[in-house]
Amino acid sequence: MKPSILVTRAIFADVLERLAQYFEVDHNQADVQLDAAALKARLAGKAGVLANAADRIDQELVRDLPALRAVCNMAVGYNNLDVPALTAAGIVATNTPDVLTETTADFGWALLMAAARRVTESEHWLRAGKWQRWSYDMFLGVDLYGSTLGILGMGRIGQALARRAAGFGMTVLYHNRSRLPQEVEQSVNASYVGKDELLARADHLLLVLPYSAASHHAIGAAELARMKPSATLVNLARGGVVDDAALAEALREHRLFAAGLDVFEGEPAVHPGLLEVPNVVLTPHIASASERTRRAMAMLAADNLIAALDAGPDAGRPPSAINPEVLPRRR
Ligand code: GLV
Repeated sequence: MKPSILVTRAIFADVLERLAQYFEVDHNQADVQLDAAALKARLAGKAGVLANAADRIDQELVRDLPALRAVCNMAVGYNNLDVPALTAAGIVATNTPDVLTETTADFGWALLMAAARRVTESEHWLRAGKWQRWSYDMFLGVDLYGSTLGILGMGRIGQALARRAAGFGMTVLYHNRSRLPQEVEQSVNASYVGKDELLARADHLLLVLPYSAASHHAIGAAELARMKPSATLVNLARGGVVDDAALAEALREHRLFAAGLDVFEGEPAVHPGLLEVPNVVLTPHIASASERTRRAMAMLAADNLIAALDAGPDAGRPPSAINPEVLPRRR
């Protein structure tokens, strides 16, 4: 008998077909919202789950799911998973790194350019029929070319963002939990600085650090106060990395020039203060959303699940395990 798995959210049909070669698939193509109780009920008796970044899978949930052996996230970030609890329970956890790096970095630049050059703000104005005549000081923005780019969090996506800065003649500064090896710094042309220096010197600051208790409100009122009033801020990381209330306040008071946000505290809710200010570009968590990349993420999540449940060409060796130490002693 094939093992049973759950795919928590709607997904590409060919990914479901691939999973169905190996598993009894309980899917959610109607994309019905599963709350914690519904998720638990649907997971009963399942050997694996293809989860989404919004599905919270924690100790309390897995305690009552003795059949569960693999939790495969379709996201590179995995703050929705309690990895220590999964590891303790002998459950493999996986994510989808690499396949989304370049697409996400492209989008970081889209948000940055839109914020700095007031693209969406001026479009809304134009669509509202307010363009009666041109004037020399319409929607003056801040320049990217020749400016200083700051990157907080210098993993794969941070480095891809930094590589793109060469075309804009930018000086790139970064801060990260650990400094990169010198050859990597050279290859992306970025210099390591302390966080305070990064905040003070960046003309544009991109956030790409993973969310954890340690990075909660890494950018709050105090950090915003250290930034230049002419600076822009882009959050590509996770809601909660930025104190959205403090950011809305700083934008409203023009203590920061503009921001671009793809992720929000408590999303899909958005802090009302952010909806009120014009100098912020808001997108609904779509940084990795190109057709090709979302397909690659879904396929990688499926490959992880197939391998983690000892099937397919990589049986027993999921390509991107977060807790590979569990593999020899997994359930
Ligand atoms: C999206 O936010 C991801 O982590 O892949």
